[in-house]
Amino acid sequence: MNGLAEVPERALRGLLLSLSRRRTIGRLATHLPITRPMVARFVAGEELPEALAAIEVLRTRGLRWTVDVLGEAVTSVELATAAADRYVATIAALAEHGLEVNVSLKLSQMGLLVDRAACRANVERILAAAAARSGFVRIDMEDHTMVEATLALWRELRVAYPESGVVIQAALRRSAADVESLIAEGARVRLCKGAYKEPPAVAFVTKAEVDRSFAALMERLLLAGRYPAIATHDLRLIRRAIVIAREHGIGPERFEFQMLYGVRRDLQERLVREGWRVRVYVPYGREWYPYFMRRLAERPANVLFLLRSVLGELGAGLQAGRRRGAGSGSVPGGE
Ligand code: FDA
Repeated sequence: MNGLAEVPERALRGLLLSLSRRRTIGRLATHLPITRPMVARFVAGEELPEALAAIEVLRTRGLRWTVDVLGEAVTSVELATAAADRYVATIAALAEHGLEVNVSLKLSQMGLLVDRAACRANVERILAAAAARSGFVRIDMEDHTMVEATLALWRELRVAYPESGVVIQAALRRSAADVESLIAEGARVRLCKGAYKEPPAVAFVTKAEVDRSFAALMERLLLAGRYPAIATHDLRLIRRAIVIAREHGIGPERFEFQMLYGVRRDLQERLVREGWRVRVYVPYGREWYPYFMRRLAERPANVLFLLRSVLGELGAGLQAGRRRGAGSGSVPGGE
């Protein structure tokens, strides 16, 4: 354990992000019950009713939500269409339960890497379903190879569906220029740091550089953007946003903070108590592996928690096996 703690954070982050792309490990992990308690911290459940229950809890706490039906990088049009179907069903269920319709989706899940026309049709179907219920659709941003295509497709669709928005990652060097264009277009932007492993040619490497970029883009969006979403758990940046808002008379109705399900719940509720709007990103679904690995990568201490819970459960399993073995005469853990 101590050895692990000494592994440089950035290397560990890189390793976890590489693992997040390994489909075979993902398939294995999603079948292992021992990872579940840790996963449940970040993922609202595998099925829609669990997500709806989690949202009810958020509602009672004065929080808002955006729902992510987990999945990404699909390999066929059929899988993309099935993912879009799940979104349409989610939107219908939110509306039926009297819950605000707000979803976040990834274009690689909608088939962008397989068939652009099919992807466009899938997203359009979701946008139409949301628009029919006065809802909002956010297009998440994936790694830097997807940025150009994501912005282009969203720009085509937003003409008919203005209640939609995109995401800008402070880690990318291009983002200052993107933010200026998006402000000029009156776009709704979610600003985040960026969750992917990127080459230094296109992205800032150190945390200090990423944080500086975030602070600068955040200020531009707060001062000139249209209802920006400040998506971070970084207290220093959140405090900075509040200072900017107060100095410039920007009321709580002009922007919102956004945070991930299961991360800094204390801070989410504190901000609500202080009168700010906070929206929680609520992921649900069976394809949680890449999302979960990115959450581990964001905070290496999470890896220690996971290891402890896995070791704890293995230990409990062995003890139970020994007890069973003592009673029945079978080999401990031999099933
Ligand atoms: P940072 O990583 O510096 O963390 C600040 C503090 O927050 C940490 O010290 C810790 O206390 C806490 N924290 C952060 N992550 C944690 C975790 N996983 N577990 C426990 N504690 C944690 N990215 C992307 O590339 N495309 C996207 O579309 C989105 N969308 C998105 C939506 C929303 C609502 C949020 C909040 C984030 C995203 N992200 C994203 C993810 C984002 O890019 C980033 O990886 C995470 O938000 C972590 O960065 P922070 O800004 O929190 O800062």
